[in-house]
Formats: sequence, structure tokens, C-alpha cells
Amino acid sequence: MVEPAHKNDPAKAPAGENAQGLREGELAVALPAQFDASLYFIGRIRTPWKRRGDCPKNARGSDAVCTIELDPRWVEGLKGLETVSHVIVLYWMYDARRDLVFQAPRDYREQRGTFALRSPVRPNPIALSVARLLGIEGNRLSIVGIDCLDNTPLLDIKPYFASTDSVPDATVGWHAARKR
Ligand SMILES: C[S@@+](CC[C@H](N)C(=O)[O-])C[C@H]1O[C@@H](n2cnc3c(N)ncnc32)[C@H](O)[C@@H]1O
Repeated sequence: MVEPAHKNDPAKAPAGENAQGLREGELAVALPAQFDASLYFIGRIRTPWKRRGDCPKNARGSDAVCTIELDPRWVEGLKGLETVSHVIVLYWMYDARRDLVFQAPRDYREQRGTFALRSPVRPNPIALSVARLLGIEGNRLSIVGIDCLDNTPLLDIKPYFASTDSVPDATVGWHAARKR
């Protein structure tokens, strides 16, 4: 878990956060004593963004061309992917705490449950973006449509099937209703 830098020193807490790094309305729980599974990082995502605050808020927030660098051992696994227009990219948002059940995101301070949010703060910080695949050269995939820090670990790549993955009439009530 990423500890707030000011833990044990309340005087250094950023404005609006307490000594535990929590904003008003946020709640942390004790994490389980051990993990249930292991995973392999299969590559890295190279982006222009070095700080969280510089990242786009979501995958549609930037047209920057980014690069997936796949561990060369997995390169045969790309066979057929060159025919795909869009990929689901799963990645590991390592730079986030994992123990919150209530969150009050900085942009709109209303309290929501972690599983009602796309925040990187979650027990398993797995992120998902649907990105346009521009091309593949060896182990490097050029994509548009990602929102992560440079060097973020890659968990998986899957073809996006509009026929089954797209739900055009899906809604998120709290987001539609929120003040802009
Ligand atoms: C709101 S999350 C959405 C992630 C993904 N598109 C999803 O929906 O699962 C995107 C934000 O996570 C933060 N972020 C980006 N890379 C991160 C990383 N490696 N670790 C922790 N947070 C990260 C940035 O603030 C970025 O704007």
C-alpha cells in the first residue's frame, strides 16, 4: 500500500486531508493479512505523464500517442491482434492506496463507494481503458486512449468487441446528475 508521505506528521498533511491522508467523508478499512493470488506484469505502458496530476482523467482525455512495450517473451501472443482496431488494456495503478471503501474525489467532494468509482484507489488497483490500436512493431504497440503514468505495469491486452462490449444505453446516475 502507498502510505501518505505525511503519515505520522499531521503538520505536513495537504490541505483538506487528515494525518491518515483521508479527506472528509473518506473511510479506510484494514486490508487482509495476505494476498490470494499472484500476477505477472507483462510489459510497461509508456506515456508522456510523469505525475498523477498531469494524467488525463480518463482514456478519452488525450489524443497523445502512447506505447505499450510488451515483454518480448510474450510477443507471439500478439498474432492476429494487428487486425484489431481497439484493444482493452488492463494495467496496474501501483501509485495509489488500497484500503478505502468511501472516497471523496478531489474534483467533486461527494462521498461514493469505491466500487461506484473509476478511481485508482481500490483493493486491487486494476485499471481498464479501451484504446485505439494504431500499429504493432515487434513488441511495441502504438495506441491512443490511455490515462496512466509513464511506466505503469501492463497486466493484459484483449481485443475490444463492439458487438459484445458496447452497451450504448448504459447509464451512471450519480455522474449524470452531478454538478459540472
Ligand atoms: C480515474 S483513473 C481511471 C483509470 C482507468 N481508465 C479505469 O477506468 O479503470 C485515471 C487516473 O488515475 C491516476 N493514475 C494514472 N496512472 C496511475 C498509476 N500508475 N498509479 C496510480 N494512479 C494513477 C491519474 O490521476 C489518472 O488521471
